[in-house]
Amino acid sequence: MTLLNAAITGVQGWVPEDVLTNKDLEGMVETNDEWIRSRTGIVERRILKGENKATSDMAVHAVEALLKKTGTRKDEVELVVFATVTPDMVMPDTANTLCDKLGLKNAYGFDLKAACSGFIYALTVGAQFIQTGMHKKVIVVGADKMSSIIDYTDRATCIIFGDGCGAVMLEPTEEAVGVRDSVLKGDGSGRQFLRIEAGGSLKPASAETVENRSHFVFQDGRPVFKSAVRGMIGAIKELLERNNLSKDDIQWLIPHQANKRIINSVADGMDFPREKVTVNIHKYGNTTAGTIPLCMWEWEDRFKKGDNIVLTAFGGGFTWGAVLIKWAYGE
Ligand code: UT7
Repeated sequence: MTLLNAAITGVQGWVPEDVLTNKDLEGMVETNDEWIRSRTGIVERRILKGENKATSDMAVHAVEALLKKTGTRKDEVELVVFATVTPDMVMPDTANTLCDKLGLKNAYGFDLKAACSGFIYALTVGAQFIQTGMHKKVIVVGADKMSSIIDYTDRATCIIFGDGCGAVMLEPTEEAVGVRDSVLKGDGSGRQFLRIEAGGSLKPASAETVENRSHFVFQDGRPVFKSAVRGMIGAIKELLERNNLSKDDIQWLIPHQANKRIINSVADGMDFPREKVTVNIHKYGNTTAGTIPLCMWEWEDRFKKGDNIVLTAFGGGFTWGAVLIKWAYGE
């Protein structure tokens, strides 16, 4: 079977307007602005406030604008792949809710859960539907309302995460651009270091799980940090090698935004110039599945057609990987 090329033809982000600063956090847990800045690079993050506001509401804003920007009619969208660890509900999938809220009558969708690697997994999955010729318009969303699963009495996690969303449109093209290759990895033994223990089939919600705060994110940061640096460098090297590319052939590196020190270690470990690495963690913190499309959205104007762009992520699972894209538009 001849595969088509799956081009990203548009990208759009959306973040809530409410800001949670390091100073605000100083009043909530024992921490300080200097520690947070120097250990993570984060200055502030966005929080989705308001009753009945969920992850799908952020995606509604992003996808509405994406449709407009790409000149896509709602009835043309065939599939929505939605990466998130903060679905509106355990069931049904947030992708279904999004299609309903937006009136995407000819689309179906499903959620994909790979924590901070969610967007690169979802992009790879979405691209397959284009490459095989099954669909002509696929939307891939990365969105998380992390504030709904963060314990704001736990300084090890509450300083890191924020809420945000990004989405891309995938379409077939005859040009050799788009999603070119993906190296995706997993290691389930990493679940001991980063997890939400309760609310699944192992520990269904009970008075005890609520009392033990087991519905919130738990993270043992140091081992995650080390594995993240090692994992992302390994995935990028494998990706470049099998595509016969050197680091000098790459115009942009878009890493998951978990910690500025991790981002710098990956760039330095690859001997990759830091000015070619997208960083907006200071503004949004770690928005889990949202970080990479939010970076793509903010750097979109600087990308040129034909640029080789590498996306890389590491997160809960453990899950990690790297994706090679040839940018499809821009002068
Ligand atoms: O995106 C998904 C994947 N996640 C990641 O990639 C995150 C990876 N991990 C990290 O980014 C870092 O490990 C953290 C930012 C979570 C923590 O930074 P760290 O440099 O690894 O700090 P640490 O956990 O080793 O703690 C160092 C010290 C400890 O004090 P002692 O034991 O040395 O006295 C902590 O208790 O800093 C203390 N500490 C804090 N102090 C002020 C921990 N959190 C805070 C805080 N404010 N918020």
